[in-house]
Amino acid sequence: MNNQNKTAVITGISSGIGLALAKKLLAENFNVIGTTRSGVLNDFQNDNLEVVALDATDKGSVASAISRIAELTKGIDLVINNAGAAPDIFDVTPEINAFNQTIATNITGVVFFNEPLLEIIKDGGQIVFISSQMGLPRNADVTGTAYCMSKAAINMYAVILAKRLAERNIKVTPVHPGWVQTKLGGDQAPLTPEQSAEGIYNGIADMESGRFYNITIPGTEDF
Ligand SMILES: NC(=O)c1ccc[n+]([C@@H]2O[C@H](COP(=O)([O-])OP(=O)(O)OC[C@H]3O[C@@H](n4cnc5c(N)ncnc54)[C@H](OP(=O)(O)O)[C@@H]3O)[C@@H](O)[C@H]2O)c1
Repeated sequence: MNNQNKTAVITGISSGIGLALAKKLLAENFNVIGTTRSGVLNDFQNDNLEVVALDATDKGSVASAISRIAELTKGIDLVINNAGAAPDIFDVTPEINAFNQTIATNITGVVFFNEPLLEIIKDGGQIVFISSQMGLPRNADVTGTAYCMSKAAINMYAVILAKRLAERNIKVTPVHPGWVQTKLGGDQAPLTPEQSAEGIYNGIADMESGRFYNITIPGTEDF
């Protein structure tokens, strides 16, 4: 694939899947604009990587990040919404602070980062949401109320956006990245971040807009 002159925006590249995705897209010749909460990325640099500060839970930070991204690029080819939090993943009873943090990061922060970004995304571009199979009602268990609800909401937002953006030929897909060895996924997970990023990259070109996609299962999945 010729990705020369293509620009990707990836949120949450300080660690885990986001960092692996940034490295993968750079290796595939994308220019990458990656976000971290601090606005810096220690231990990794690349001439084609710009790092922008974004705290998804802070309105001012979201507005500054959007302005900076608009200065850095005339048009985005690919957005990967990867930043996420899961403070209640092992809890049965919802706790209000963890609940609010999850909703602010995984839903409100994602929606109100993407809305102003839509103007800068090229027609024919693509938006990927790193979701989770835990956001599919058929996988509901007793734990992780806020996290599972947040990913279910993002699956819905992705389908709504897929319909809104169909005229502009912008593909929108929620993607389960597998169970991955990260701060969020833990050490027991079977996939490395690099394997997950490889699977996401290989899958996204053929994804159908508005469908849920699990990179560990070939083909698209219904909700
Ligand atoms: N690992 C898995 O098995 C798995 C499975 C399904 C889905 N996912 C999804 O994959 C995505 C990436 O997670 P990961 O597993 O790679 O975990 P991770 O290593 O903990 O990475 C999470 C990223 O999100 C960023 N982030 C958290 N809160 C933020 C906020 N308020 N504003 C901006 N950025 C914020 C983190 O930044 P800081 O470093 O500043 O905290 C970090 O860069 C998440 O959306 C997660 O739900 C993961």
